[in-house]
Amino acid sequence: MPLIWKEILTICLFIIPAHSLLTDKSKIRANLNFTELVTYDGYRHETHKVVTEDGYKLTVFRIPPKSECDKKLPLLFQHGLYLSGDDCIVPGPGVAHCYIYSDNCYDVWIGNSRGTRYSRDHVSLDPDTDHEFWDFSFPKLGIYDNAAVIDYILRNTEQEQLYYVGHSAGVASLIVLGSKKPEYNSKVKTAFGLSATTWIGNAKLPLVTVQKLVSNFNVSGDEILEHGGVVQIAAESLCGLKLSYYKCSTILFSILGYDGFQIAKDVFPVVVGHAPAGVSWKHFVHWGQIAKDGFKEYDYKDDNVKIYGQSTPPEFELENVKMKFVLLASENDWLADLKDVQKLHSKLPNSELCVLKDKLFSHLAFVYGKGIPVSITPSIINYIENNELDC
Ligand SMILES: *[C@@H]1O[C@H](CO)[C@@H](O)[C@H](O)[C@H]1NC(C)=O
Ligand SMILES: *[C@@H]1O[C@H](CO)[C@@H](O)[C@H](O)[C@H]1NC(C)=O
Repeated sequence: MPLIWKEILTICLFIIPAHSLLTDKSKIRANLNFTELVTYDGYRHETHKVVTEDGYKLTVFRIPPKSECDKKLPLLFQHGLYLSGDDCIVPGPGVAHCYIYSDNCYDVWIGNSRGTRYSRDHVSLDPDTDHEFWDFSFPKLGIYDNAAVIDYILRNTEQEQLYYVGHSAGVASLIVLGSKKPEYNSKVKTAFGLSATTWIGNAKLPLVTVQKLVSNFNVSGDEILEHGGVVQIAAESLCGLKLSYYKCSTILFSILGYDGFQIAKDVFPVVVGHAPAGVSWKHFVHWGQIAKDGFKEYDYKDDNVKIYGQSTPPEFELENVKMKFVLLASENDWLADLKDVQKLHSKLPNSELCVLKDKLFSHLAFVYGKGIPVSITPSIINYIENNELDC
């Protein structure tokens, strides 16, 4: 990929707050990786390695249930595009998804998609030199990564089902899995889709416009937005700007979607310290194609006939996705627009839609926002425990 795109994306995506606005605690938390952060926050963890059918070595984290807890089904948290398993702990105790589930006695497992900072490994391919390593988009994150991780967790815990909480592209991957490998539908008791991205034709996010634009050109590339890459250099130079939290968030959210300061001041630098976490160019472009043409397989243009036996990429067969989905959506989501989520809801045979009463929730607030323990996790836990949808 031409360097200029990297620069543009880098600058578009991550405007970094100045050191001056970091508290000591957020300064420390911003620089810790998953295992260090979870320990700093006072929770136990395990690190597991799972190898997919196509040879990717994934890191899966676990926050094991406390000893005083009665046994519950495992719960798998799966992050979305650009991000990593860090998402479910970044906002800290009392707010972060995985800490709240752990506080409620769940056996919490955390996936890290291939290519992200914790899963940049393969039995034979080298992510730094082999282009083939980066030849994937979200369908492979479903049929290989989600499948391998789900099987691993069920084997390890001797359970037959788990709960799945996915954010953004972490919902799309599971939908593809349920569609292409229907035997997985019975392995997921309930899947919760936070700000689910499938059809994104109504997305207002400026970044999606960039994705649509680049999908028009025949440019190829491997990894973009890697953790500690070009972004870090941009970060260091932008740190000199000494922007206030107010200015920083305004700039960031004019690009990533207005969030009404849902992401707390002390969490903001921690978000910036952990995102992005690495993504394939193909996955990035695929969402640009979807924004233009709908929720379909990757468009290989002239090669579609050779690959799919037809000139346009096939759609996914959602009628196969029999597992229970609970979709949580917000009117203020600039990426997963309510109209698009409603379309998904109408096509999934076994789904319920919950539109948040809090109208300020943005796409990222679903994983980083201070409103999570008020608007999101109580609904998820209430659904699991009482089978009630209260939103
Ligand atoms: C986090 O960093 C520490 C110290 O560098 C290292 O020992 C540990 O393996 C890292 N954890 C992960 C998950 O990469
Ligand atoms: C795209 O570029 C590749 C090599 O860079 C070339 O082989 C291929 O034919 C091009 N495709 C189109 C549609 O131009």
